[in-house]
Amino acid sequence: MNVARKSNLAQAIEQMPKAELHVHLEGSISHETIEELARKNGIDSYAARGRANPARLRYGHLVDFLEAYRVRCKCLRSADDFQVACTDVLESLHALNVRYAEIMIAPTLHRMNGLSMDEIMPVLARTAGEFSKKNGLEARFILDVGRQFGREHAWQTVREAARQQDSGVIAIGLGGDEVHYSPELFVEQFAWARKQGLHLVAHAGEVGDSASVWGAVNSLGVERIGHGLGARGDEALLETLRIRQIPVDMCPTSNVETGAVRSYADHPLADFLRRGLLVTVNSDDPAMFGTSLTQEYSVCWQELGLAWSELKLLCLNGIRGSFLPDKDKERFLEEFTEELAEIESETGLR
Ligand code: ADE
Ligand code: ZN
Repeated sequence: MNVARKSNLAQAIEQMPKAELHVHLEGSISHETIEELARKNGIDSYAARGRANPARLRYGHLVDFLEAYRVRCKCLRSADDFQVACTDVLESLHALNVRYAEIMIAPTLHRMNGLSMDEIMPVLARTAGEFSKKNGLEARFILDVGRQFGREHAWQTVREAARQQDSGVIAIGLGGDEVHYSPELFVEQFAWARKQGLHLVAHAGEVGDSASVWGAVNSLGVERIGHGLGARGDEALLETLRIRQIPVDMCPTSNVETGAVRSYADHPLADFLRRGLLVTVNSDDPAMFGTSLTQEYSVCWQELGLAWSELKLLCLNGIRGSFLPDKDKERFLEEFTEELAEIESETGLR
């Protein structure tokens, strides 16, 4: 590849319209804003910034990362703090040309700090609604059950999600410590959430094996998988994900930073995509992993060896894999396809 073509690709990646399906509100708050919130609420900002500290090494393991996440959540202590955080995150996404985002929130960690989603969600809905009118970025929210906090907290989270659907909550997620807590623990809560009209998604196969992914698909009935690395080597599972076109939201830098993979060279995103799975690329907790969605597309190109045509496929999969109603998916797909064609004609990429 010659130098001109390389820089054309970098430019194309920046200009691409994007959808972000796997991003956590708390893990996306910029360094400056977390610093401001930490100071305001008397929290040790070094701990709250996590990997954003230049001197900090990679997280030892997912559980180590989750502890940094817990501390970070202590920086959010009021509805006003959430408004500041949400605006900050939407601005960062908008700057990357993100047009549609499904943003996860960890209600249990805020409940432990005395806050309820019944108080927070209407504020987030108003913030996102006003931002969308001004900047055209549409956002929805996913309330994430933290596995390690047990079933009673899970019940509270799914009930909050059901009550807050008018505030843009579209789904229940399963996150947290996959090593010690299986998806089967939460079968009743997920079944109940489905009956309330919520979509279902789970982090599965992030650090867990294929049994964890099977559990999320078969026992919880999730419609989308976060990470899915554990499906590697299980041909029957990969075939199930392919045939059913169950989207797999992959987050390469997150996986390197938490030690879920040793290096980008070990990441299965390219393999999964080339097998015909509905793979999307995402940033997970960009502020804590020192990345961005644009950077994740660059990683797919430069580290994972994807071609422009494959980056385009990832881009459109971001809409296909979303929880948008079909007519909105069609609208976004048309818009994205047109813009990608314009980028191609400007850059000469094919
Ligand atoms: N919560 C925030 N980020 C997470 C991750 N990568 N895995 C599990 N839970 C999370
Ligand atoms: Zn995640």
